[in-house]
Amino acid sequence: MKSSRRTFLKNTAAVTALLSADSVLKPLNLFSRNTETANPLAIPSPFSGNSFTIEKKMNAVWPGAPLTETFSLTGNYPGPLLKIKKGEMLSINVKNTIADEVTIHWHGMELPSKMDGHPMDAIAPGGNFTYEYPIVNRAGTYFFHSHTHGKTAEQVFKGLAGMMIIEDDEEQALDLPRGEYDIPLLLQDLRFDANKQIDYNPTSLDRMVGYMGDTVMVNGTPNAFANVKRGLYRLRLINASNSRVYRISFKDKRKFHIIASDGGLLTKPVETDVLMLATAERYEILVDFSAYADGSSVMLRSEEFEAPTHMGMDPDFPQGMPMDILRFDINGEGVLKSIPQTLSQIERIDPQTAKRVRTFELDMATSMVHTINGVLYDMHRIDETVPFGETEIWEFKNTEDDMLHPMHIHGVQFQIVSRNGNAEIPAHEQGWKDTFLLYPSETVRVILKFDKYDGTYLMHCHNLEHEDDGMMINFTVDKTAGVDHPHFKENISVHPNPCDQYAMLEFPAAHEERELRITNSTGQIFFKKNIPAGSKSIQILVWQIASGPYFCTIGRESTKLIIAR
Ligand code: C2O
Ligand code: CU
Ligand code: CU
Repeated sequence: MKSSRRTFLKNTAAVTALLSADSVLKPLNLFSRNTETANPLAIPSPFSGNSFTIEKKMNAVWPGAPLTETFSLTGNYPGPLLKIKKGEMLSINVKNTIADEVTIHWHGMELPSKMDGHPMDAIAPGGNFTYEYPIVNRAGTYFFHSHTHGKTAEQVFKGLAGMMIIEDDEEQALDLPRGEYDIPLLLQDLRFDANKQIDYNPTSLDRMVGYMGDTVMVNGTPNAFANVKRGLYRLRLINASNSRVYRISFKDKRKFHIIASDGGLLTKPVETDVLMLATAERYEILVDFSAYADGSSVMLRSEEFEAPTHMGMDPDFPQGMPMDILRFDINGEGVLKSIPQTLSQIERIDPQTAKRVRTFELDMATSMVHTINGVLYDMHRIDETVPFGETEIWEFKNTEDDMLHPMHIHGVQFQIVSRNGNAEIPAHEQGWKDTFLLYPSETVRVILKFDKYDGTYLMHCHNLEHEDDGMMINFTVDKTAGVDHPHFKENISVHPNPCDQYAMLEFPAAHEERELRITNSTGQIFFKKNIPAGSKSIQILVWQIASGPYFCTIGRESTKLIIAR
């Protein structure tokens, strides 16, 4: 079966080409829409209340068509726009009036675990819960959405998602476009039936690949257009789709500047004409419309890209198909600002300060569902214990050669260390992130530290069909964890450490053969050896490896190894 799969992006070069600006893929117009039927883009004004009611509601989504049933938050489809300042307290009482349980997750937030919308903390039908936490994140574009056990995909698809903008003094001090020149754009690709009702009926192929639609909704508006002036605009792109990845560009290949990623401002603007936007990722871009003539239009779209076919099968609206997103109609003189040369300071976490590498292998189980380290999600099982305040590298290895997995970690903002061992990651990925796209057969390392809250959080694939099917784990950030804690042991001991010519490793025996690897922080391998089943120690010769910090990994356990001479 494996050999018949179409291979896709096997090597770093291909991945780099997809991530970079100059792609040679030619656009198709298969799915271009009829421009006469465009609808004015809904731009929500900031929500000022302190309670949400989750309800089933008939909303006017398609002009001149029957009302569409959605899941709404206080009548809003999609959910309202929250605007809040860093340092303020968010407090929102959520009432659940629908027949299913619901939790609301605040994507990207560093917050107490009880406020994170974990599926264990579901609000029962008829119940309510007050989410309350201080905003500690940097200024940026975030969002919130349903995270209900096994029902996240359906509930998000039907509208349980909303935008969140955090402001802080640093960002406010910059001369960036504001007011009508600052437009948040929540993207979702939906399917509708003949009566313009949201059609969420994934087949087994859709569940394996992800459910994708043919209509891009922007802030809940289908076939949207926006009136803009000849000025500089800030667009906040939020991919709230179930599984659609957008290759964002303008139809005329106009250049734009990326100024912020998931966790806020980058250090400086990154100029490009194309941007991959995976599910749950956010990027803010600056676009200059001043060169367009009055009365002209330009389409923001997702241009075609080569995406993997799943075992030779494509769903109805495949990943990578070209799609129109939002038409900008340009009219009138606008405010033209110059783009700041520097935006913010980001201290890169030195990968050498990591205490260990935690590895996650993503694979497809025989039951045709995607797993993390061979297991499916169990709400009551803690899969990893992470010591509070310790810097770690998390390594994600996609063993599937035909599947994109946008990976997301709750309760933290991290930095990408390397893609396939290459530390030279694209400039727009060098800021703070909470989600990244893991390409087929790719290995990505990120670096992080949980130093604000302890408790249980989630890590999962943000393809919502994958997530609902169990591609998710629980991890607990533990303040008492340490070498002697029963829930957390450094399983590999190294003597001597630092070492010079050789080192002795001791570890618990296993029933099966395991691989021992010595890598540097980016994942480059310097030494490899198989450890026979039952073995509890091994001597390794390191005299050929240059001095420096390394990680020694056996199976999924790892520890730091210093070579010094
Ligand atoms: Cu955007 Cu676990 O979620
Ligand atoms: Cu999240
Ligand atoms: Cu996935």
